[in-house]
Amino acid sequence: MPVSIKMHESIAVVQIDHPPVNALSHAVRTGLLRAVETVNATPEIAAAVLVCAGRTFIAGADVREFNQPAREPHLPDVIDAIEACSKPWVAALHGNALGGGLEVALGCHYRIALSSARMGLPEVTLGLIPGAGGTVRLPRLIPVPQAVEMITSGKPISAKEAASLGLVDQIVDDELENAAIAFAQTRTSQPLVSTRDRSIKDAPTEPDFWSHAKSRLERKARGQISPLYALEAVKNAVTLAFEDAYAKERSCFLELRQSDQASALRHAFFAERAVGRLDSLKDVQSRPLDAAGVIGGGTMGAGIATALLLAGIRVTLVERDEDSLKAGASRVASILEASVKRGLLTPDRQRELIETLGQTTTYEDLANVDLAIEAVFESMPVKQEVFKRLDQVLKPGAILATNTSYLDVNAIARATQRPTDVIGLHFFSPAHIMKLLEIVEADATAPDVLATGFELARKLRKVGIRSGVCDGFIGNRILKVYRQNAERLLLEGGTPAQVDSAMRRFGMPMGPFEMQDLAGLDIAAAQRHAAREKGINVFAPVSDRLCEKKRFGQKCNAGWYRYEDNSRTPLEDDEVLKLIREEASQHHVAHKAHDDNSIQRAILFPMINEACFILDEGIATRPLEIDMVEIHGYGFPRWRGGLMHYADTIGASTLLDALGADQATEPAPLIKSLAKTGGTFADLN
Ligand code: NAI
Repeated sequence: MPVSIKMHESIAVVQIDHPPVNALSHAVRTGLLRAVETVNATPEIAAAVLVCAGRTFIAGADVREFNQPAREPHLPDVIDAIEACSKPWVAALHGNALGGGLEVALGCHYRIALSSARMGLPEVTLGLIPGAGGTVRLPRLIPVPQAVEMITSGKPISAKEAASLGLVDQIVDDELENAAIAFAQTRTSQPLVSTRDRSIKDAPTEPDFWSHAKSRLERKARGQISPLYALEAVKNAVTLAFEDAYAKERSCFLELRQSDQASALRHAFFAERAVGRLDSLKDVQSRPLDAAGVIGGGTMGAGIATALLLAGIRVTLVERDEDSLKAGASRVASILEASVKRGLLTPDRQRELIETLGQTTTYEDLANVDLAIEAVFESMPVKQEVFKRLDQVLKPGAILATNTSYLDVNAIARATQRPTDVIGLHFFSPAHIMKLLEIVEADATAPDVLATGFELARKLRKVGIRSGVCDGFIGNRILKVYRQNAERLLLEGGTPAQVDSAMRRFGMPMGPFEMQDLAGLDIAAAQRHAAREKGINVFAPVSDRLCEKKRFGQKCNAGWYRYEDNSRTPLEDDEVLKLIREEASQHHVAHKAHDDNSIQRAILFPMINEACFILDEGIATRPLEIDMVEIHGYGFPRWRGGLMHYADTIGASTLLDALGADQATEPAPLIKSLAKTGGTFADLN
């Protein structure tokens, strides 16, 4: 049984032992309810202490039950029973007390925590709100503004913060169970106050508190509904009687569970776990990853070196000369400095990391590294030269990786005598922050080298996604289609502002044109130039004109928009609108009326189509890989589950019809076959 009781004098120690994270499965809920009955019915028991075995307190609901109908006893009934017990319950928290786990603790009469514990209500991240009293009990223990923050953001807090807010009654550094027993012994003779009987703590007095909180959340949530429902639930807790607010919370929870957004967020949750599990890598051991070299200390190299240092990997930075080396090392230092300023790193740790950073202009200093990541200029001859040098100096078994955005990893591998050890590791900027890592498997890449790519992603806490070799890999290849179709809409009569706001309303953090202005139009221009050199036709007439005029974006105060000095606010620019009209008439593009919906479809459907080609060609093997690339690399709204999950909400035949009506896009074979069979992308995961 996952729940057992042992006696310590008059204190019943109720222990949950349900590996790996003591999730609230059916058996745990049943066991807890029985434990309450025993505590109530046994006269020798004066109080109960709730502890968990293993590395954590109850970390939440059981993910295996996510997609199943709920079974009795339901969690609120279990928690109500604990709260109504005639004897005090003390929850002893260690590891993570999250979601339903924290709600159980809120139903107990007291909470004591290990100083390293964390607690939170992350339900909004799964498209839900707490459904077992979290929104009604938390604001009775901690001030309402903090309860709003915790419940609407889903972010956990530390035990220390929890103690300062009143969520836990005592913190200890060790001996949690003994401390909880001792604590319980002091409470046996005191009057029992349940959380529901407490009054709301520090209800807001400002008249605009709720409306301000709502508009703040609307901006942040970008179309996601659960944070707004969560806010409403806390407001109910403050303004209604406990029972009424509790009932409303439950019905809202049950309604959200069925929602499309919750289903998309569950998909994203499971896809994140599935994306690193490749059949071809079963039982394949990864290679060591203790020491790494980074070649090139520019924007990407410095970010990659920082990410490696923060993950505890020894790093040697290689640059082409002393000046560039100094510049690279100071880039690393300033990224770390920024982390200190944001409170993510202590100054001591920052100094320690900087001191361990090896710096050299001599490739021979990489003789002992396990992995070398190249991040030099995006030029095939330069990269091939670097790989030749690496091949000469690296020890046997070391991995040679390139961070190229577009170049052919097979051609880079051919510059070495050991193509089986070569792989692409495509980081996204800023590399120490962005979650996505495309792990590019070239023709000759050995399975254990690929497995090491995934191991690296795990160590860096990134989402690693396998990609085959093609121009732009998965993400940038789809990005190209995104940009092309956004530009096409301009020729049809749209404006940059209109297209950008339609995509923001879809849930993207920025529209395509704002994004290009931020990143700089020159990078894409160089790629178009390279493609045209290879004889590839790239249609981007307005982008080309902007670049001719050196309107490279924010850094020039002019791009798709104009910017006033020192401001990043995009302002519509008549010069750009005129230029768009000129190009439209030059290319005889017919005017079309567009609204948000038609703009979104005109951009997203061709992206889905490109993703289907990517699947057809085996560049990605499962639609969920594309979902993860889009969410973690390009800001695709997580609550839509990613590009292919969204595609399933449209349906293959609708997609095919729309694409067929548009002569510019040839539908991919995969869309055609799904439309014929009535299949879905989810079936292919
Ligand atoms: P960058 O121009 O900022 O940095 C390149 C660095 O490489 C410079 O510091 C240069 O001194 C150094 N370098 C050049 N040749 C070298 C050599 N032979 N030995 C040692 N160091 C050498 O360029 P950035 O933006 O960091 O890009 C680097 C690579 O990362 C490129 O392949 C790029 O396509 C790729 N990439 C860039 C992204 C971005 O957002 N900037 C995103 C993902 C990949």
